[in-house]
Amino acid sequence: MFTGDERIEKATRVRVRAQLPRRLAGDGSPGTLAAALAPALMRLTMGFNHDRSLLPASYLQDPKLLAAYMARFTPLGADRVRFALGQGGAAFARLRGLAGERPLRLLDVGAGPGSATLGALSALDLSGDAPPPVCVLIDRTRSALEEAARLADAAGFRARLVRIAHDVTRGLPEGPAFAQPFDLILVANMLNELSESRRGRFVQRLAALLAPEGLLLAVEPGTQAAARDLIALRDRLGELATVAPCPHDLPCPLHAQNRRDWCHVAAPYNRSAWIDALDRVCGLDHTRLVFSYWLARQAADGVLPAGPSRIVSDLLKDEGGSVRLLCTPSGLRRVSAAAFGVAYRGQPWTEKIPSQPANASSRPRKERPRRN
Ligand SMILES: C[S@@+](CC[C@H](N)C(=O)[O-])C[C@H]1O[C@@H](n2cnc3c(N)ncnc32)[C@H](O)[C@@H]1O
Repeated sequence: MFTGDERIEKATRVRVRAQLPRRLAGDGSPGTLAAALAPALMRLTMGFNHDRSLLPASYLQDPKLLAAYMARFTPLGADRVRFALGQGGAAFARLRGLAGERPLRLLDVGAGPGSATLGALSALDLSGDAPPPVCVLIDRTRSALEEAARLADAAGFRARLVRIAHDVTRGLPEGPAFAQPFDLILVANMLNELSESRRGRFVQRLAALLAPEGLLLAVEPGTQAAARDLIALRDRLGELATVAPCPHDLPCPLHAQNRRDWCHVAAPYNRSAWIDALDRVCGLDHTRLVFSYWLARQAADGVLPAGPSRIVSDLLKDEGGSVRLLCTPSGLRRVSAAAFGVAYRGQPWTEKIPSQPANASSRPRKERPRRN
Protein backbone atom coordinates (compact mmCIF):
# COMPACT_ATOMS: atom_id res chain seq x y z
CA MET A 1 0.00 0.00 0.00
CA PHE A 2 1.34 3.41 -0.97
CA THR A 3 1.84 5.85 1.91
CA GLY A 4 2.02 9.63 1.61
CA ASP A 5 5.07 11.68 2.50
CA GLU A 6 4.32 13.12 5.94
CA ARG A 7 6.72 16.02 5.45
CA ILE A 8 4.67 17.34 2.53
CA GLU A 9 1.35 16.88 4.32
CA LYS A 10 2.65 18.63 7.40
CA ALA A 11 4.01 21.50 5.31
CA THR A 12 0.64 22.01 3.60
CA ARG A 13 -1.11 22.02 6.98
CA VAL A 14 1.33 24.59 8.36
CA ARG A 15 0.90 26.86 5.33
CA VAL A 16 -2.88 26.53 5.25
CA ARG A 17 -3.15 27.29 8.94
CA ALA A 18 -0.99 30.37 8.50
CA GLN A 19 -3.36 31.68 5.81
CA LEU A 20 -6.65 31.19 7.64
CA PRO A 21 -7.99 33.79 10.10
CA ARG A 22 -7.21 32.63 13.65
CA ARG A 23 -10.86 32.21 14.56
CA LEU A 24 -11.28 29.68 11.68
CA ALA A 25 -7.96 27.89 12.10
CA GLY A 26 -8.88 27.17 15.72
CA ASP A 27 -6.74 24.46 17.25
CA GLY A 28 -5.19 23.63 13.84
CA SER A 29 -6.46 20.04 13.96
CA PRO A 30 -7.16 18.35 10.58
CA GLY A 31 -10.93 18.42 11.23
CA THR A 32 -11.00 22.13 12.12
CA LEU A 33 -8.85 23.17 9.16
CA ALA A 34 -10.85 21.00 6.76
CA ALA A 35 -14.13 22.52 7.97
CA ALA A 36 -12.70 26.03 7.48
CA LEU A 37 -11.68 25.15 3.93
CA ALA A 38 -14.94 23.37 3.07
CA PRO A 39 -16.57 25.95 0.73
CA ALA A 40 -13.41 26.45 -1.33
CA LEU A 41 -12.68 22.70 -1.37
CA MET A 42 -16.18 21.98 -2.66
CA ARG A 43 -15.85 24.63 -5.33
CA LEU A 44 -12.55 23.21 -6.55
CA THR A 45 -13.86 19.66 -6.49
CA MET A 46 -17.02 20.57 -8.40
CA GLY A 47 -15.03 22.70 -10.83
CA PHE A 48 -12.41 20.03 -11.60
CA ASN A 49 -14.76 17.05 -11.64
CA HIS A 50 -18.02 18.40 -13.03
CA ASP A 51 -18.23 21.94 -14.34
CA ARG A 52 -15.11 23.94 -15.09
CA SER A 53 -17.15 27.15 -15.46
CA LEU A 54 -17.51 27.18 -11.64
CA LEU A 55 -13.85 28.22 -11.50
CA PRO A 56 -12.33 31.46 -12.77
CA ALA A 57 -9.66 31.06 -15.48
CA SER A 58 -6.80 31.79 -13.06
CA TYR A 59 -8.42 30.11 -10.09
CA LEU A 60 -5.25 29.92 -7.98
CA GLN A 61 -5.13 33.72 -7.84
CA ASP A 62 -8.02 33.52 -5.38
CA PRO A 63 -6.32 33.08 -1.94
CA LYS A 64 -9.12 30.85 -0.60
CA LEU A 65 -8.96 28.54 -3.62
CA LEU A 66 -5.16 28.47 -3.42
CA ALA A 67 -5.28 27.47 0.26
CA ALA A 68 -7.81 24.73 -0.49
CA TYR A 69 -5.75 23.55 -3.46
CA MET A 70 -2.61 23.31 -1.35
CA ALA A 71 -4.43 21.47 1.38
CA ARG A 72 -5.81 18.64 -0.70
CA PHE A 73 -4.33 18.61 -4.19
CA THR A 74 -0.72 19.29 -3.26
CA PRO A 75 -0.08 16.28 -0.98
CA LEU A 76 -2.07 13.97 -3.25
CA GLY A 77 -0.39 15.40 -6.36
CA ALA A 78 3.05 14.99 -4.81
CA ASP A 79 2.28 11.37 -3.95
CA ARG A 80 1.16 10.67 -7.53
CA VAL A 81 4.44 12.04 -8.86
CA ARG A 82 6.42 10.04 -6.30
CA PHE A 83 4.53 6.90 -7.29
CA ALA A 84 5.06 7.48 -11.02
CA LEU A 85 8.78 8.22 -10.68
CA GLY A 86 9.08 5.08 -8.57
CA GLN A 87 7.95 3.13 -11.66
CA GLY A 88 10.89 4.55 -13.63
CA GLY A 89 13.20 1.66 -12.66
CA ALA A 90 16.76 1.96 -14.00
CA ALA A 91 16.05 5.26 -15.76
CA PHE A 92 15.04 6.96 -12.52
CA ALA A 93 17.82 5.21 -10.56
CA ARG A 94 20.31 6.70 -13.04
CA LEU A 95 18.91 10.15 -12.35
CA ARG A 96 19.27 9.62 -8.61
CA GLY A 97 22.86 8.52 -9.19
CA LEU A 98 23.58 11.74 -11.08
CA ALA A 99 22.14 13.76 -8.22
CA GLY A 100 25.04 12.71 -6.03
CA GLU A 101 27.55 14.16 -8.51
CA ARG A 102 26.08 17.52 -9.57
CA PRO A 103 22.95 19.59 -8.97
CA LEU A 104 20.11 17.93 -10.85
CA ARG A 105 18.06 20.26 -13.02
CA LEU A 106 14.27 20.02 -12.73
CA LEU A 107 11.65 21.92 -14.69
CA ASP A 108 8.05 22.00 -13.43
CA VAL A 109 5.64 23.59 -15.90
CA GLY A 110 2.22 24.71 -14.67
CA ALA A 111 3.78 24.16 -11.26
CA GLY A 112 1.06 25.84 -9.16
CA PRO A 113 2.16 25.52 -5.52
CA GLY A 114 4.86 23.05 -6.54
CA SER A 115 3.07 19.75 -5.90
CA ALA A 116 5.01 17.88 -8.59
CA THR A 117 8.35 19.37 -7.56
CA LEU A 118 7.69 18.34 -3.95
CA GLY A 119 6.82 14.83 -5.11
CA ALA A 120 9.99 14.63 -7.19
CA LEU A 121 12.16 15.87 -4.31
CA SER A 122 10.54 13.28 -2.10
CA ALA A 123 11.15 10.52 -4.68
CA LEU A 124 14.78 11.58 -5.17
CA ASP A 125 15.29 11.39 -1.41
CA LEU A 126 18.72 12.99 -1.68
CA SER A 127 21.29 12.56 1.02
CA GLY A 128 22.64 15.57 2.91
CA ASP A 129 25.86 15.41 0.83
CA ALA A 130 24.11 15.70 -2.53
CA PRO A 131 24.23 19.14 -4.11
CA PRO A 132 20.76 20.76 -3.91
CA PRO A 133 18.86 20.39 -7.19
CA VAL A 134 17.95 23.45 -9.23
CA CYS A 135 14.18 23.48 -9.72
CA VAL A 136 12.75 25.88 -12.30
CA LEU A 137 9.03 26.39 -11.71
CA ILE A 138 6.82 28.11 -14.27
CA ASP A 139 3.23 29.14 -13.68
CA ARG A 140 1.05 32.04 -14.71
CA THR A 141 0.00 32.56 -11.06
CA ARG A 142 2.80 34.21 -9.09
CA SER A 143 1.20 33.72 -5.66
CA ALA A 144 1.06 29.94 -6.24
CA LEU A 145 4.78 29.90 -7.05
CA GLU A 146 5.51 31.81 -3.86
CA GLU A 147 3.68 29.14 -1.92
CA ALA A 148 5.76 26.47 -3.68
CA ALA A 149 8.92 27.98 -2.19
CA ARG A 150 7.37 28.18 1.28
CA LEU A 151 6.12 24.59 1.09
CA ALA A 152 9.52 23.24 -0.01
CA ASP A 153 11.08 25.10 2.87
CA ALA A 154 8.47 23.94 5.41
CA ALA A 155 8.88 20.33 4.24
CA GLY A 156 12.65 20.60 4.78
CA PHE A 157 13.71 19.90 1.17
CA ARG A 158 17.05 21.26 0.09
CA ALA A 159 16.61 22.75 -3.37
CA ARG A 160 17.23 26.00 -5.21
CA LEU A 161 13.87 27.11 -6.57
CA VAL A 162 13.76 29.47 -9.54
CA ARG A 163 10.21 30.81 -9.94
CA ILE A 164 9.04 32.21 -13.25
CA ALA A 165 5.58 33.77 -13.54
CA HIS A 166 4.72 33.26 -17.19
CA ASP A 167 1.87 32.14 -19.44
CA VAL A 168 3.18 29.30 -21.56
CA THR A 169 0.64 29.88 -24.31
CA ARG A 170 3.05 32.71 -25.22
CA GLY A 171 5.88 30.16 -25.59
CA LEU A 172 8.42 29.02 -23.05
CA PRO A 173 10.31 31.80 -21.25
CA GLU A 174 13.90 32.63 -22.10
CA GLY A 175 16.81 33.34 -19.80
CA PRO A 176 19.75 31.81 -17.97
CA ALA A 177 17.49 29.23 -16.29
CA PHE A 178 17.16 27.60 -19.73
CA ALA A 179 20.82 27.71 -20.73
CA GLN A 180 21.29 24.02 -19.90
CA PRO A 181 19.05 21.01 -20.49
CA PHE A 182 16.89 19.49 -17.77
CA ASP A 183 17.27 16.09 -16.11
CA LEU A 184 13.61 15.90 -15.14
CA ILE A 185 10.68 17.77 -16.66
CA LEU A 186 7.35 17.67 -14.84
CA VAL A 187 4.02 18.71 -16.27
CA ALA A 188 1.31 17.75 -13.80
CA ASN A 189 -2.43 18.32 -14.13
CA MET A 190 -1.78 21.07 -16.59
CA LEU A 191 -2.04 19.64 -20.09
CA ASN A 192 -5.82 19.45 -19.70
CA GLU A 193 -5.80 23.23 -19.14
CA LEU A 194 -4.24 23.78 -22.58
CA SER A 195 -6.33 23.57 -25.72
CA GLU A 196 -6.05 20.22 -27.46
CA SER A 197 -4.40 21.85 -30.47
CA ARG A 198 -1.53 23.20 -28.32
CA ARG A 199 -0.69 20.11 -26.26
CA GLY A 200 1.37 18.11 -28.78
CA ARG A 201 3.57 21.02 -29.84
CA PHE A 202 3.97 22.06 -26.21
CA VAL A 203 5.20 18.63 -25.09
CA GLN A 204 7.51 18.48 -28.11
CA ARG A 205 9.05 21.76 -27.00
CA LEU A 206 9.51 20.42 -23.50
CA ALA A 207 11.05 17.22 -24.88
CA ALA A 208 13.64 19.29 -26.72
CA LEU A 209 14.77 20.71 -23.37
CA LEU A 210 15.60 17.24 -21.98
CA ALA A 211 19.16 16.20 -21.23
CA PRO A 212 20.13 13.02 -23.15
CA GLU A 213 19.37 10.79 -20.15
CA GLY A 214 16.58 13.02 -18.88
CA LEU A 215 13.00 12.04 -18.08
CA LEU A 216 9.74 13.78 -18.80
CA LEU A 217 6.79 13.02 -16.55
CA ALA A 218 3.28 14.05 -17.53
CA VAL A 219 0.60 13.43 -14.89
CA GLU A 220 -3.09 13.91 -15.52
CA PRO A 221 -6.29 13.06 -13.64
CA GLY A 222 -7.44 9.45 -13.83
CA THR A 223 -10.60 10.39 -15.70
CA GLN A 224 -11.55 8.85 -19.02
CA ALA A 225 -11.07 12.10 -20.95
CA ALA A 226 -7.75 13.17 -19.41
CA ALA A 227 -6.21 9.70 -19.53
CA ARG A 228 -7.26 9.06 -23.13
CA ASP A 229 -5.90 12.45 -24.18
CA LEU A 230 -2.58 11.61 -22.56
CA ILE A 231 -2.42 8.23 -24.31
CA ALA A 232 -3.18 9.91 -27.62
CA LEU A 233 -0.20 12.21 -27.05
CA ARG A 234 2.02 9.26 -26.18
CA ASP A 235 1.03 7.47 -29.35
CA ARG A 236 1.65 10.55 -31.47
CA LEU A 237 4.98 11.92 -30.25
CA GLY A 238 7.70 9.83 -31.87
CA GLU A 239 10.56 11.76 -30.30
CA LEU A 240 9.72 10.37 -26.87
CA ALA A 241 9.95 6.73 -25.83
CA THR A 242 7.89 5.35 -22.96
CA VAL A 243 9.61 4.40 -19.72
CA ALA A 244 6.40 3.73 -17.74
CA PRO A 245 3.64 2.69 -17.26
CA CYS A 246 3.47 0.74 -20.56
CA PRO A 247 5.50 -2.47 -20.93
CA HIS A 248 6.18 -1.59 -24.61
CA ASP A 249 6.50 1.36 -26.94
CA LEU A 250 3.83 0.29 -29.44
CA PRO A 251 0.69 2.37 -29.91
CA CYS A 252 -1.66 1.77 -26.98
CA PRO A 253 -3.78 -1.31 -27.79
CA LEU A 254 -6.49 -0.32 -25.29
CA HIS A 255 -6.83 3.09 -26.87
CA ALA A 256 -7.08 1.52 -30.33
CA GLN A 257 -9.63 -1.07 -29.20
CA ASN A 258 -12.50 1.29 -28.43
CA ARG A 259 -13.35 4.83 -27.39
CA ARG A 260 -14.56 3.80 -23.95
CA ASP A 261 -11.71 2.29 -21.94
CA TRP A 262 -8.77 4.13 -20.50
CA CYS A 263 -5.53 3.09 -18.86
CA HIS A 264 -4.88 4.62 -15.45
CA VAL A 265 -3.43 3.92 -12.01
CA ALA A 266 -5.63 3.02 -9.05
CA ALA A 267 -3.06 2.19 -6.37
CA PRO A 268 -4.20 1.26 -2.84
CA TYR A 269 -3.43 4.33 -0.73
CA ASN A 270 -2.78 4.57 2.97
CA ARG A 271 -4.38 7.97 3.43
CA SER A 272 -3.45 10.07 6.43
CA ALA A 273 -5.72 11.71 9.01
CA TRP A 274 -5.29 14.96 7.07
CA ILE A 275 -6.48 13.56 3.72
CA ASP A 276 -9.22 11.66 5.55
CA ALA A 277 -10.52 14.90 7.12
CA LEU A 278 -10.48 16.67 3.74
CA ASP A 279 -12.20 13.73 2.07
CA ARG A 280 -15.03 13.86 4.62
CA VAL A 281 -15.68 17.49 3.79
CA CYS A 282 -15.78 16.80 0.03
CA GLY A 283 -17.59 13.47 0.24
CA LEU A 284 -14.61 11.76 -1.40
CA ASP A 285 -12.79 8.58 -0.55
CA HIS A 286 -9.07 8.48 -1.29
CA THR A 287 -8.46 4.87 -0.41
CA ARG A 288 -6.79 4.59 -3.81
CA LEU A 289 -4.47 6.95 -5.61
CA VAL A 290 -6.19 7.39 -8.97
CA PHE A 291 -4.46 9.17 -11.85
CA SER A 292 -2.87 8.72 -15.26
CA TYR A 293 0.75 9.35 -16.20
CA TRP A 294 3.35 9.01 -18.88
CA LEU A 295 7.03 8.80 -17.98
CA ALA A 296 9.17 9.19 -21.09
CA ARG A 297 12.70 9.78 -22.30
CA GLN A 298 14.10 10.86 -25.62
CA ALA A 299 13.65 8.05 -28.12
CA ALA A 300 16.77 5.94 -28.60
CA ASP A 301 19.11 7.26 -31.25
CA GLY A 302 17.46 10.65 -31.28
CA VAL A 303 14.22 10.14 -33.13
CA LEU A 304 15.17 7.20 -35.31
CA PRO A 305 13.94 3.69 -34.63
CA ALA A 306 16.24 0.79 -33.85
CA GLY A 307 15.94 -2.11 -36.27
CA PRO A 308 15.14 -2.24 -40.00
CA SER A 309 12.14 -0.17 -40.99
CA ARG A 310 10.09 0.65 -44.04
CA ILE A 311 9.05 4.12 -45.11
CA VAL A 312 5.31 3.98 -45.56
CA SER A 313 4.37 7.57 -46.24
CA ASP A 314 5.38 10.63 -48.12
CA LEU A 315 5.79 13.85 -46.15
CA LEU A 316 2.78 14.46 -43.90
CA LYS A 317 1.83 17.59 -42.02
CA ASP A 318 1.79 17.10 -38.26
CA GLU A 319 1.25 19.62 -35.47
CA GLY A 320 5.00 19.45 -34.84
CA GLY A 321 5.90 20.05 -38.51
CA SER A 322 6.49 17.64 -41.41
CA VAL A 323 6.86 13.96 -40.63
CA ARG A 324 7.18 10.62 -42.37
CA LEU A 325 5.64 7.40 -41.13
CA LEU A 326 8.00 4.48 -40.65
CA CYS A 327 6.84 0.92 -40.10
CA THR A 328 9.36 -0.34 -37.53
CA PRO A 329 9.80 -3.58 -35.58
CA SER A 330 8.07 -1.84 -32.65
CA GLY A 331 5.14 -0.45 -34.63
CA LEU A 332 4.34 2.65 -36.61
CA ARG A 333 6.56 5.65 -35.81
CA ARG A 334 6.39 9.28 -36.85
CA VAL A 335 9.81 10.69 -37.63
CA SER A 336 10.31 14.39 -38.20
CA ALA A 337 11.32 15.27 -41.72
CA ALA A 338 14.39 17.12 -40.45
CA ALA A 339 15.69 14.09 -38.57
CA PHE A 340 14.79 11.79 -41.42
CA GLY A 341 16.53 13.96 -43.99
CA VAL A 342 19.83 14.00 -42.12
CA ALA A 343 19.95 10.28 -41.49
CA TYR A 344 18.40 8.89 -44.67
CA ARG A 345 19.25 11.50 -47.28
CA GLY A 346 18.63 10.19 -50.78
CA GLN A 347 16.72 7.14 -49.57
CA PRO A 348 13.84 6.45 -51.97
CA TRP A 349 10.61 6.03 -50.10
CA THR A 350 8.88 2.65 -49.75
CA GLU A 351 12.33 1.06 -49.63
CA LYS A 352 13.33 -0.99 -46.64
CA ILE A 353 15.87 0.97 -44.63
CA PRO A 354 18.49 -0.41 -42.27
CA SER A 355 18.59 0.30 -38.56
CA GLN A 356 21.97 1.99 -38.85
CA PRO A 357 21.87 4.32 -41.83
CA ALA A 358 25.21 4.83 -43.60
CA ASN A 359 25.55 8.35 -42.28
CA ALA A 360 24.25 7.56 -38.79
CA SER A 361 27.14 9.52 -37.29
CA SER A 362 25.44 12.67 -38.51
CA ARG A 363 22.56 11.92 -36.20
CA PRO A 364 20.31 14.95 -36.10
CA ARG A 365 20.40 17.15 -33.08
CA LYS A 366 16.98 18.23 -32.07
CA GLU A 367 16.33 21.85 -32.74
CA ARG A 368 15.91 23.90 -29.60
CA PRO A 369 12.37 25.19 -29.53
CA ARG A 370 11.75 28.67 -30.72
CA ARG A 371 10.72 30.79 -27.78
CA ASN A 372 7.78 33.04 -28.52
C1 LIG B 1 -4.42 21.95 -11.71
S1 LIG B 1 -3.10 23.04 -11.47
C2 LIG B 1 -1.71 21.95 -11.31
C3 LIG B 1 -0.67 22.50 -10.41
C4 LIG B 1 0.44 21.51 -10.09
N1 LIG B 1 1.18 21.14 -11.29
C5 LIG B 1 -0.16 20.28 -9.45
O1 LIG B 1 -0.10 19.20 -10.05
O2 LIG B 1 -0.69 20.39 -8.36
C6 LIG B 1 -2.82 23.69 -13.10
C7 LIG B 1 -1.76 24.77 -13.07
O3 LIG B 1 -1.41 25.10 -14.41
C8 LIG B 1 -1.27 26.49 -14.49
N2 LIG B 1 -1.49 26.89 -15.87
C9 LIG B 1 -2.54 26.60 -16.66
N3 LIG B 1 -2.38 27.15 -17.88
C10 LIG B 1 -1.20 27.80 -17.84
C11 LIG B 1 -0.48 28.57 -18.79
N4 LIG B 1 -0.98 28.78 -20.00
N5 LIG B 1 0.72 29.08 -18.45
C12 LIG B 1 1.23 28.86 -17.22
N6 LIG B 1 0.59 28.16 -16.27
C13 LIG B 1 -0.61 27.63 -16.57
C14 LIG B 1 -2.34 27.03 -13.55
O4 LIG B 1 -2.07 28.36 -13.14
C15 LIG B 1 -2.26 26.04 -12.41
O5 LIG B 1 -1.33 26.44 -11.44
